[in-house]
Amino acid sequence: MIIKSVRSTIGSVSSEFITTFVFQDEKFYKRSTLSLTESFGKSVDSAFASKDFSAKEGETLFVYTNSKKSLRLFAIGLGDSKKITIEKIRRAAATAAKKAKALKIASMVIDIAEIESNSTFSSEELAVAISEAALLSLYKYDKYISKENNGEQLTSIILCSTSANTKEIQNGIRTGQIIAEATIHARNLTNAPGSEIYPETLAKETVRIGKKAGFTVTVFGRKKIAGLGMGGVIGVSKGSEKEPRFITLEYGTQYKKNGTIALVGKGVTFDSGGISIKPSSGMAEMKMDMGGAAAVIGTFDAISRLKIRRHIIGLIPSVENMLSGAAVKPGDIIRHYNGKTSEVDNTDAEGRLILADALSYAEIFNPDVVIDLATLTGACVVALGHYASGMMGNDQKVMDALSSAGDKTYDRVWQLPMYDEYEKLIKSEVADVKNVGGRWAGAITAGWFLKKFIGDYKWVHLDIAGTVILEENQDYIPRGGSGAGVRLLVEFLQNWK
Ligand code: BES
Ligand code: MN
Ligand code: ZN
Repeated sequence: MIIKSVRSTIGSVSSEFITTFVFQDEKFYKRSTLSLTESFGKSVDSAFASKDFSAKEGETLFVYTNSKKSLRLFAIGLGDSKKITIEKIRRAAATAAKKAKALKIASMVIDIAEIESNSTFSSEELAVAISEAALLSLYKYDKYISKENNGEQLTSIILCSTSANTKEIQNGIRTGQIIAEATIHARNLTNAPGSEIYPETLAKETVRIGKKAGFTVTVFGRKKIAGLGMGGVIGVSKGSEKEPRFITLEYGTQYKKNGTIALVGKGVTFDSGGISIKPSSGMAEMKMDMGGAAAVIGTFDAISRLKIRRHIIGLIPSVENMLSGAAVKPGDIIRHYNGKTSEVDNTDAEGRLILADALSYAEIFNPDVVIDLATLTGACVVALGHYASGMMGNDQKVMDALSSAGDKTYDRVWQLPMYDEYEKLIKSEVADVKNVGGRWAGAITAGWFLKKFIGDYKWVHLDIAGTVILEENQDYIPRGGSGAGVRLLVEFLQNWK
């Protein structure tokens, strides 16, 4: 996809398909409709005269124009100008891109003059939001679908503006495109079946993406992992024919003096539940159990290409959770990297077992902040559904920063309490801690388990079980892998201290 900008009025740009945004407020609405009528002629005049379109948020109007320059005009309502948000603009951009795709149009124009002059967003912010959302909305995981030749593909988007902020718009387009592509990397990894993405191939993909984007990747195999004493990674991987991998990503060593942030991602490439096997209905979805790893890899792709001035470490423990005669069993006791032991009461609570090793291993990098992302519990999906990831941690400032990054990107998080009372639910009679906490507050007891393995750093845990794959289409997130976490972390990392 090529995204460009052009400095022009809406009436003088040539296009097969031009999108414009219209505010509902009387004075803006009147001015917009007047100028659109002037530029596009009689059919547009009649369309507005019909009063079918009042520019309410999400309302659309599609007209074949009488202009020689542009055949089709697509107007999208943004509602009240005083209530405009960047998310509404993302949604409108997605609506436009999806319409152009449905009409099999090769090149579309998006006129941004109205929101540039009548909103508080900078030209750059607008360009980021629009290019990002347009690209994300066009995504489809179709790698394994035989291609039929069904007409033109949308290959170019042109942002049309009358302002002199061409440089800002171009910067914004570049940023938006990088963030969208990084999110799409995460979506592709999440959507890939377990036969394609298992620990070894996940590591290879990380190396490949790292080479292109400019971050370094180190991969440990089974022997090295065992030698380091990562009993969780080894234990969970025992039931599978696929060997585990421990992947370390690193970017920005030259910025070490500003501190180090580590991102830890759960990389269970398929979660059958192990000996505590899951019910067969819905098990296919468990190919997405490396969504945390995908978010870390996608984030690294974006931050390296955006050249963020920070030292960032990524840690991905990766296993396939299967069952065989060699598998870890309920009742087994595992010794983790930091020497602490855990009782495996349920082999399906495997994510925390491998994260325990990664979180304690993170200590060797002396990080100021560690953020882990994991599709950790069904309980979190029950609590928050698909609209927010669960957040827990030991530092309110980092959590608040993530919370604002979430509100801004709409890759949202919601904090759950970590009261001391929950801790006793994972007490074990035979080991330092037990890997399940019973029926209630499953997302929180999982968080408490992780907390037992953190080092001396600020730590936040994001349970992305509900947000990483969607059952239904959302505006710019088609059903399936969403890439949750990438836009959130990029925003957080761009702004953190
Ligand atoms: N990967 C699952 C969590 C999950 C469930 C993610 C549903 C997305 C949708 C995790 O490994 C798991 O199986 N958790 C168990 C924990 C339980 C055994 C304490 C769960 O949530 O049922
Ligand atoms: Mn599980
Ligand atoms: Zn899992």
